[in-house]
Order: sequence, then structure tokens, then C-alpha cells
Amino acid sequence: MKIGVIGCGMISDWYFKAAKRFKQMDIICCGDLREESAIKQGAEYNIPVKNVEDIYTDPEVELILNLTPQQAHYAVSKRALECGKHVYSEKPLCGTMEEAEELMKLAASKGLQIAAAPDTFLGGGPQTVRKLVDEGWIGKVFAGTAMFTSRGPETWPHAPAFYKKGAGPMLDYAPYFITQLVNVLGPAVAVTASVTKGSESRVGGPETVPHVYPVEVPTFQSGIIEFASGAQITVIASYDVWRGTHPYIELYGTKGSLNMHNPNFFGGFIKVFRPGYEGWQEVPSAFDYNTDARSIGVADMIEGILTGRKTRVSGALSQHVLEIMLSFEKSSNEGKKIYLKTTCEQPAPMVQVSEDGKFE
Ligand SMILES: NC(=O)c1ccc[n+]([C@@H]2O[C@H](COP(=O)([O-])OP(=O)(O)OC[C@H]3O[C@@H](n4cnc5c(N)ncnc54)[C@H](O)[C@@H]3O)[C@@H](O)[C@H]2O)c1
Repeated sequence: MKIGVIGCGMISDWYFKAAKRFKQMDIICCGDLREESAIKQGAEYNIPVKNVEDIYTDPEVELILNLTPQQAHYAVSKRALECGKHVYSEKPLCGTMEEAEELMKLAASKGLQIAAAPDTFLGGGPQTVRKLVDEGWIGKVFAGTAMFTSRGPETWPHAPAFYKKGAGPMLDYAPYFITQLVNVLGPAVAVTASVTKGSESRVGGPETVPHVYPVEVPTFQSGIIEFASGAQITVIASYDVWRGTHPYIELYGTKGSLNMHNPNFFGGFIKVFRPGYEGWQEVPSAFDYNTDARSIGVADMIEGILTGRKTRVSGALSQHVLEIMLSFEKSSNEGKKIYLKTTCEQPAPMVQVSEDGKFE
């Protein structure tokens, strides 16, 4: 499928490189509000550069890959849908549930697909965890933890964007964790949470502009997600912590426990403990795509569009994950448990494949 990329910043390198693994993807042009960024990436990856407006209206472009900053996702995706293009956006889908509903309705009215990253849950590591849980290695999962504690990208040149409304640890980093939880446990039903922030401003790195910038979002969010399966997962999402030792994701089942790598990555360690084991046992990945596959979600979506099968990365999944994430702040502000209005199907598990680009 012919793809136009909008947004040629830091993450675009990963997509331009990994897209070569997926025959479903044919990137025919790229553009950026900052023309110099598009020219640089176009030259590096041999991709024709176009004015952004010309990408939206290019009759050859069938899908727009939206790699703009979080705060631009809604406007760029909306314009792309209005122009009749399928959309795959970096995470999150957009910044509010109202925007998400509008994008979903617009896509449906035009017979188009829209979905958002992450696609790391399609990687070998997260999929091996899914297989272990599906096969009952730790019994019925009744609880667990999902935690990431760091200072966040506070010294990056464009760091201020990660601390503005629409981003923060929850909308910027938690998508990897929450999406993997939905992948393994299915949809959620409620969130109870409390949020705060460690400081009102941050001091960036040498290239950060402005050097001192405000923190507009709660940068320490903790709460409990209740899943329809009955599992309850305790979550901490923070960009305030200098150093921590909590595991990324731990699942507690009636027959054992499971501990997995940072779900921001396609692969990594997976450990299982069951009664009778001397300690944690490492489990090797049982699937493909264990590194550098940030594009696989786009390929999965295209495969779904072309064959009519359900996509694993879907608008319903992205919208549900967004509602779970936004419900942390909502629960804290309203002082009550938030019952979720959205749901989604648990994505189909991956299967072993014989070569890059295959899914079935
Ligand atoms: N940088 C990372 O390591 C990383 C990792 C995973 C996901 N992401 C996600 O990728 C997205 C982009 O992040 P980034 O780090 O590449 O940011 P970036 O600022 O480096 O790049 C974004 C680019 O989009 C352009 N842009 C902004 N608004 C635009 C618009 N309306 N139309 C066209 N171009 C526009 C900017 O000029 C910029 O070049 C974000 O959603 C982020 O959450 C980033």
C-alpha cells in the first residue's frame, strides 16, 4: 500500500528503517512542517519529499503515517481522513475522548481505518507472554503490576513537548504498558487512581529549547486498572523518579508469577515462577520480530485492509487504551472510580512465521 509519511523527526528513523522489512509498506513520499527535516530524511532514506498539504491530497497516497508530536496527532489524522486516507498514528491516538470519538466516526463514515502505535505488543517478547498466559502457565491472572519510573526525556532537544498537555508519562509512555496488558488480559472495565507532579518546571539539556520549561501534566500517576477478566493491575507511570527498582510488568496467577521486559521493546527477558521451581525460570521468545520492527503495526493494518481480516492494531484498541490512560487523571480529579465507556476485542495472537513481513 502506498504511504505518505507526515512528520520527519526523531522517531521517523525507526519507521523508515523497519518499513523495509514489510513488503506491505511502500513509502512514496514524506513531508514535515520543517522542510529541512523532510529534506534530510528524504535524502537519507531515498524518499521523495513533498509539501505536507500535497501529501494529504496526493491521489496515489492511500495511507498516512502520522509521526508528528502528540499534540498534533488529532489535527493531522483528521485532515488525512478527510482526504480519504487510512491513518496509522504514533501514540497516543489523540488527546481527548471527544477527539477520539470524532476520528473514529469520521473514519467509519468514509470506510477508512485509523489506529495508533504502539505495535511493540506484536513483538516476540510480548507475544510470548501472551502465549504463556493463554496456555495457563501461571493459572488465572488475578492481579499484577505495571510500572515505569524515570525522569522521562527531560533533556532531549524537544523535551518540552513531552511535559505538555497531551503527553506526560501517561499518554507518552504508558501506551506500551497498557496496550500489552490489554493484549494479554483483554479489555478493562474501570480505573481508580491518584495523580500528582514532582515539580512545576524542568531544566533541560544543553540543546533543550527553552532550557527551563513548565510541566503541564501530572508526572506521577498511580492507580488500579480492573479488567473484565477479573484481574486488577496496579500501575505507576512517572517521569519524576531519579531511580527505581520496580519490575516493568509482573503478573500474579493462581499457579505462578510472570515477570517481563519493558514492553517498549519487541523482545527481552521473560521469567516464570511456579511452585516447585527453585527460582525464576527464563523463557525464550517463541515468536518472530524480537527487535527493531516499529512499523509492524502499519503492516498488520494494511494486511487487514487488503484481506478483510481483523487488524491486531485497531482504532477500537487505540481508543480503549486512550480511555484507560485518561481515566487516571479523571479518577483523581473526581475522587472516584471511573467505569470505562469503551471496550475492544482482545487482539488476535501472532503466529510463528517463515519470513519478515508475514503474519499468518
Ligand atoms: N522520539 C522517540 O524516541 C519516540 C519513540 C516512540 C514514539 N515516539 C512518538 O513519535 C511522535 C513524534 O516524536 P518525535 O520524537 O519524532 O518528535 P520530533 O519533534 O522529533 O518530530 C516530529 C516532527 O513532526 C513535525 N510536525 C509537527 N507538527 C506537524 C504538522 N502539523 N504537520 C507536519 N509535520 C509536523 C515537526 O516539525 C517534527 O519534525 C510522538 O508522538 C512521540 O510520542 C517518539
